[in-house]
Amino acid sequence: MAYVSSISTILAGVVAYFIARYTYRLFFHPLSKIPGPKLAAISYLPEFCHDVVRKGMYMWEIEKMHQKYGPIIRINPREVHIKDPAFYEEIYAGGMRIRQKDPAFTVALLTPGAMASTNDHERHRQRRGVLSNFFSKKSVTDLESVIQDKVDTLKERFNRALHEETVLSLPSVFAALTADMITHYCHGESRGYLIAPDFKNNHMEALDSLFTLFHINRFIPPLAHLLSRLPLESMKKWGILSGTIGELVDTRLQTRQRAAEALQSTEKKTTGPVTLFDALTADSVPEEERTVNRLEDEASVLFGAGTETTARTLSIAAFYLAKNQTLLEKLRGELKIVMPSPGSKPRWSQLEKLPLLGGVIQEALRLSYGLSGRLARIAPTENLVYKDHLIPAGTPVSQAIYFVHHDPTIFPEPEKFDPERWIRASNDGTNLKKYMVSFNKGSRQCLGMNLAYAEMYLTLAMFARNFDVDLVNTTEDNIRLGRDMALPYPYEGRFSVRARVTGIISY
Ligand code: HEM
Repeated sequence: MAYVSSISTILAGVVAYFIARYTYRLFFHPLSKIPGPKLAAISYLPEFCHDVVRKGMYMWEIEKMHQKYGPIIRINPREVHIKDPAFYEEIYAGGMRIRQKDPAFTVALLTPGAMASTNDHERHRQRRGVLSNFFSKKSVTDLESVIQDKVDTLKERFNRALHEETVLSLPSVFAALTADMITHYCHGESRGYLIAPDFKNNHMEALDSLFTLFHINRFIPPLAHLLSRLPLESMKKWGILSGTIGELVDTRLQTRQRAAEALQSTEKKTTGPVTLFDALTADSVPEEERTVNRLEDEASVLFGAGTETTARTLSIAAFYLAKNQTLLEKLRGELKIVMPSPGSKPRWSQLEKLPLLGGVIQEALRLSYGLSGRLARIAPTENLVYKDHLIPAGTPVSQAIYFVHHDPTIFPEPEKFDPERWIRASNDGTNLKKYMVSFNKGSRQCLGMNLAYAEMYLTLAMFARNFDVDLVNTTEDNIRLGRDMALPYPYEGRFSVRARVTGIISY
């Protein structure tokens, strides 16, 4: 009897605790005046159901909430989402304004030592400072010949694919180029993806598989912490990690090995930083930053960020060019200005002046979104004011890139791939680029933006000037954003663009 009564007391205590907690969140919390559904204000249940159980679907619920409650909503007990492109640069501010990342997001990146996972503003600034010179426009231009060499190899692979009648997975093909480029940056030599018979396709699939766990990791941080520091070497030896994940682990272990070597090397002390690893291990970097874990995490993020996003954008551009022969012919006509023959090798600076090529790249970026995740920012010392609402310092605030890029008041018919909208805007004097947020804005904006642009301009020019391709079993459903797994996934299956090379342009 006494046993039953103590259980009842405990149960009553638990119920009272939750009632008090929910009452506080609903009526007394600093965000209690922000509009939104009551269930989302008191608990994480809606977010959990739509993101974890239904796999990356909460963003569509957020869209519905905006339709019902207006441009500012409380989407969970602690986070505010604003759907108003005019407020984007307030959330993602730069300069002297302090913006931190949300630990509830970065924990799921599984790379606690990387700059991209660094929540604290000052620490991030210091880490970014070590690498930023490598990605300035000048540094990327200095490396243009290395990118061009890789574009030449890619061209040979497309030629060979025509003769062998191979069906190519374009994201893997383009990822081979971007992966070779970023490994060159990190270690001074490429890992040979472009010359591998299958472009090491499995590696991209494995990276994709990892992102299917993104929301689970977000909701169960101890799991994320555990996954971040698994004893991979032993697990590999015991045969626990095999298949495509095994290949990803191999890459990670190679990175670890390189990191250890870079830390031991003394050469850098005399020659100055040439690779990213040299910079990360330089004497000027605080000692506590020079660890294998930190280097391994940084290199893993650079590899993932530098590979997947650019390859996805190139695949989207290739998809729409393959679908629209008129657009492709028009682009070829423009390219002939700087590429009189298909074998011409124009400079990036020449290609940047071509308006239609620029429009194709902007439109592919607009519809590839960089990341689909909400990427919340926290202003730790500043209250933000949106219309009549005060958002207290310390609140995670987000605005997903998708909502900006699909705002019909800025991009009419947002679903349509329309490169000429960028030319029309430029002729009208409209600053459309202000609303291009694929690389995000502010202090945490993409580090590799210039490298990505150089790769996209040089690759796309070669591709469009030289090849005709037919899509194979690929429709817009294979590339359109349907699920937010931090990376954009289609509603069904994986992002994919399959194509066969059908012709080589000889004039
Ligand atoms: C089309 C290509 C690319 C797109 C659309 C893209 C997009 C983005 C976005 C949206 C972010 C911000 C993430 C956040 O706010 O949490 C980001 C950050 C980052 N990107 Fe990219 N990226 C691209 C290419 C690259 C390349 C080629 C590199 C190679 C170095 C790279 C390296 C990084 C790094 C290191 C960060 C973290 C920056 C920081 O924390 O300060 N990205 N990228």
